[in-house]
Amino acid sequence: MAGRIVVKAGDITREEVDAIVNAANESLLGGGGVDGAIHRAAGPGLLQECRRLGGCPTGEARTTAGYALPARYVIHTVGPVWRGGGAGEAELLARCYQRSLEEAEAHGVRTMAFPAISTGAYGYPLAEAAEIAVRTVARHLANGSPIEEVRLVCFSETARRIFAEALARHCGER
Ligand code: APR
Repeated sequence: MAGRIVVKAGDITREEVDAIVNAANESLLGGGGVDGAIHRAAGPGLLQECRRLGGCPTGEARTTAGYALPARYVIHTVGPVWRGGGAGEAELLARCYQRSLEEAEAHGVRTMAFPAISTGAYGYPLAEAAEIAVRTVARHLANGSPIEEVRLVCFSETARRIFAEALARHCGER
């Protein structure tokens, strides 16, 4: 039985799952948006661990502990900056989801939550990002993954609706 995908609105720092994914930058030294929220909620231990990682290339993922967060792990991934769609952004964004899922499995994660990677400061259009997120996660879960639930946590009702529509379209295709 393939794991399920859930779309919801909320603050990802409050999700009670094994791992939450952070939309970080290549320094892994914190920032605004969801990166800032996760560091604030996790506490200073998160930044101390991140400092020892030496950064993360775009499209890659690194795992740390969750510290004061409900989640046991934080999987930091670096999404592409949107440059109009002709610079391989779609492949890089898909890689963020794929590598985060692989990191989760390597740590025995069974439930996890993603934010809408790259759709804030990095300017990725929500509809395209939602399509990539749903397609990449659904394909991975359909290939025998032990992950039981993946939540796509949106920070606005608009984003939630767009992600829910992408999920409904994907399910309708099967
Ligand atoms: N919970 C869930 N989603 C959130 C939260 C939160 N607490 N805060 C913000 N978001 C949403 C935003 O609304 C957006 O849809 O996360 C999505 C990603 O937006 P950003 O956090 O701006 O991340 P991104 O677009 O990937 O840009 C990354 O911003 O914060 C810096 O250090 C980060 O340099 C990096 C860049």
